[in-house]
This record gives sequence, C-alpha cells and structure tokens, in this order.
Amino acid sequence: MVNRPHLRPATGGSIRRQLVVQLLIVAAVLSGLLYLSVRGVADTAVETTQDSILGAATIAIAEELRGGEDGVSIDIPYTAFSMLGSIGEDRVFYRILVGGETVTGYPDLALPESPPGSGLDPRFFTTSYDGSEVRAAAVVRSVLVEGRNTEVMVIVAQTRGAKDAIVAQMANRAALLGLGFFALAAVLSVITARSVLNPVQRLAEAVGRRGPDDLRPVERPVPSELAPLVRALNGFIARLSGALSRTETFIAEAAHHIRTPLATLRTQAEIALRKTDDEATRDSLRAMIRAADDSARSAGQLLDHAAVVYRTDQRTEERIDLCQLARDMSDSFGPTADIRDIDLTTDLCAPPVEITADRLLVESALRNLLDNAIKYSLPDGSVAVTVGTDGGRAVIRVLDRGRGLSGARTTQLTGRFRRGTNVADVVGSGLGLTIVREVARAQGGEFRITEREGGGTCAELSLPL
Ligand SMILES: Nc1ncnc2c1ncn2[C@@H]1O[C@H](COP(=O)(O)OP(=O)(O)OP(=O)(O)O)[C@@H](O)[C@H]1O
Ligand SMILES: [Mg+2]
Repeated sequence: MVNRPHLRPATGGSIRRQLVVQLLIVAAVLSGLLYLSVRGVADTAVETTQDSILGAATIAIAEELRGGEDGVSIDIPYTAFSMLGSIGEDRVFYRILVGGETVTGYPDLALPESPPGSGLDPRFFTTSYDGSEVRAAAVVRSVLVEGRNTEVMVIVAQTRGAKDAIVAQMANRAALLGLGFFALAAVLSVITARSVLNPVQRLAEAVGRRGPDDLRPVERPVPSELAPLVRALNGFIARLSGALSRTETFIAEAAHHIRTPLATLRTQAEIALRKTDDEATRDSLRAMIRAADDSARSAGQLLDHAAVVYRTDQRTEERIDLCQLARDMSDSFGPTADIRDIDLTTDLCAPPVEITADRLLVESALRNLLDNAIKYSLPDGSVAVTVGTDGGRAVIRVLDRGRGLSGARTTQLTGRFRRGTNVADVVGSGLGLTIVREVARAQGGEFRITEREGGGTCAELSLPL
C-alpha cells in the first residue's frame, strides 16, 4: 500500500490518432470526388464547345447550297474549315447527300441513326472513321431542284485528338487540385484533433497536479461530453474520502477497544498471581500475562502500522524542529528507562535542525527506535539520541550498548513481523522497524541499523532537510 508504483493504465489506442486517420479518410474520399467531378465537367465543357463549332461549320456549309434547274451546287466556304481548325489540329471529313445519294465527300462516312429534322438544327453523334473516333454533326436543308423540293443532308465529322488533349490537361490540373485539397485537409485535421482533445488534456493535467491528500471534487468546467466522466470521478473521490475517514475512525476505535480489555485482563491476572501460592497456577498466570503483553504489543504495533500507512497517503507536512522533537520523545521514555536503570541522554547539535515533514510519522519512527534501544539494552546500560546534519540531510541516531544484532542486516530486520534471532526473551511483534522504514520512504529519507564497535546497536534515520 505504501509507495506503490503508479499503475499505468492499459491504453487501447489513441483517440487523436483515430480522429486524424478518420478525417484523412474523409479528406481522401472528398479529394477523389473533387478530381472526378472536375474531370467530368471539363469533359462535358470541351465536348459542348466542339459540338457548337462543329454545328456552326455544318450550318455554314449547308447555307451555301444552291438549288437550280440543273441540280444542286455548292461552294464549300473556307470559313467552315478555319472554324474547325480553331480547336486544334484535327482531321475533318464531310459528306453531302442529295435525295439520299452521296454527291460529294466521303461516301463511307456514317449517317446519324435518325435523320435530323429540317430547319438547320444539327444532330450530333459519335462514330468512327478511318480507324479514329470522330464527332459528327448532320443538318438537313431542303433545296428547290428542278422545281421540286429536295432534301440535302450535310455531314461534317472531326477527329477528337485536340479535345482529348485538352481533357487530359484539365485532368492533370484536377489531380493537382485534389492533392492540394488533401494536403490542406491533412494539416487541418491534425489541428482539429489537437484542439478537440485539449479539454481532455487540461482535465488530466488538473487532476494529475493535485497533491496526494487533495480529495476535493473536480469543479472546473468541462465540455458536456466529459461531464459523465467527471461525475464518475467525483463519485469515486467522494467514496474514497468516505472510506478513508471510516478507516481513520476504525483505527482509533480498534486501538481503544483492543487495548482496554487487554489491560484489564493483565491486571486481573496479576492480582490472581499475587493471591495464589500454587506453582502450576502461577505458571499459567505468568504465561497469561506474557500472552496479554504480546497481544497488546502486537495490536498496538499493528494499529500504529495501519496509522502510518494511512498517514503516508494523507500527509500533512509542517516545519518540525527535530531537536525539540527528540527531547520531547526522550522525556516521554524517561520513566521506562528509569525502571531499568538505563541512562538516557540526548546530544543535539547547537542550531536547531528543521525539516519539513509529517510530525506524526516522524514521532512514530523515533518512538520505535527508542523503544527498541531501551528494550534490547541490558539493565544499567546507556542509550543516546543524537541529532545532526550530514550532506544536506538531517540525521537522527539512536545508540545503545545492548545485545547487538547477531550479524543481521537492515533488510532482514525491516520486513513485516521479522525479528532477530537473539531476542526471543523480549516481547515484540516485529513491526517497529517496518514502521521506521515506511516513514523514511514516505519522507524521502533512508534508514539503516548497524552494529556498533564495542557492542550495541546504532539505528540511523536520515531525512531531507
Ligand atoms: N536496538 C536494538 N538492539 C538489538 N536488536 C535490535 C534493536 N533494534 C532492533 N533490533 C532487532 O530488529 C528486530 C526488529 O525490530 P522491530 O522493532 O521491527 O521489532 P520488535 O522490536 O521485535 O517488535 P515490535 O514491533 O514490538 O517493536 C528486533 O526483533 C531485533 O532483533
Ligand atoms: Mg521494536
């Protein structure tokens, strides 16, 4: 529970990437449609132009038809061909039929599927001639020949090379336009994706910036789509702070409800011990007292540990004068030390050593260190508490001349419920140094316990200044 690594959430892809990809797909489809429609419009426009020139040329020829007593005469106007030449270098074919018979031009040039109505209204059609596709216009005019109205059809056809070239050129431009449009859309979609996700980013930053004990609900305005998420988050925060305050109450109540009856039990057992002379009963009562001590100790340490763990997540930092704190703590251990004739001294460096930390945590750590030093000292021993600084850190040492560690190292003694091999005769639960280690970690400090030269133990807690 303490100092757990921050869990990295499993991420199922990125919304931004998905958004960009989808916008790019839309842009690609639109660019394709743009290309196709520009091409289509160009094709129709060029064809319409070619048709109107072709129609005009055909009408110009038809208008030159002259009827007479000895047949039809025509003087094909030069302007008709110069008109057709204006589109480009294309071959031109013509055919003139009088009463259904070809009189001049290319006799194998195809006729329109249905004949055009008379009145110089050209009919356009596409066919092929001499191996190339041609666009043709046909008009019909009636001419007086030998006193009779005779229908004369004029067909003019032109190959489509120039038209195809113009359409190909337009298609190239359309492709460039499509590409340009796509590039612009790509840039815009990246910008859009970023700005759409900005509120999410800002919300995440605002929540991430909070301190470990900031359990206020999130109140910053968010877009309506994020409102359910923020509501859920606020619900979760409310439940969490409810659970935390219940934990705090539980710790305090459990401590009271376990310690009080155990103390009564112990007192009663001691009274009974004084009243009886039966050795067997006395042995049982002594075992009972020892078990009550053990349980009280374990219960106390377990609750202390729980309080420290809880407190680690809910730290309230303040400036603490370590010398003052060490003096107060030593004073509170004075009576315990006196009972065992232990000389408890404090050696505090002259200027006060101040740190920013949670008072309750540091007190818990120091209490456990002093408790160990007195508990594992021989009667008439000596315990010293020193406070100083070393390389930018405040260092508290608790030194004793007790039984030592029998070679055990810090890591072996700071685990939960881990006790040394040489302490079976002393009541203990093996949680004291676990508490010290966790306090050191929570405050960004270090703890180690070593054997002293000349016997005894040195417990050293260093905390950032
Ligand atoms: N000053 C000391 N002198 C000798 N041994 C010590 C000292 N301090 C700690 N130890 C060893 O480290 C072990 C772990 O200490 P810790 O305080 O965690 O547990 P405990 O004292 O046995 O039980 P409790 O949780 O009741 O304090 C002890 O059992 C003891 O073997
Ligand atoms: Mg201890």
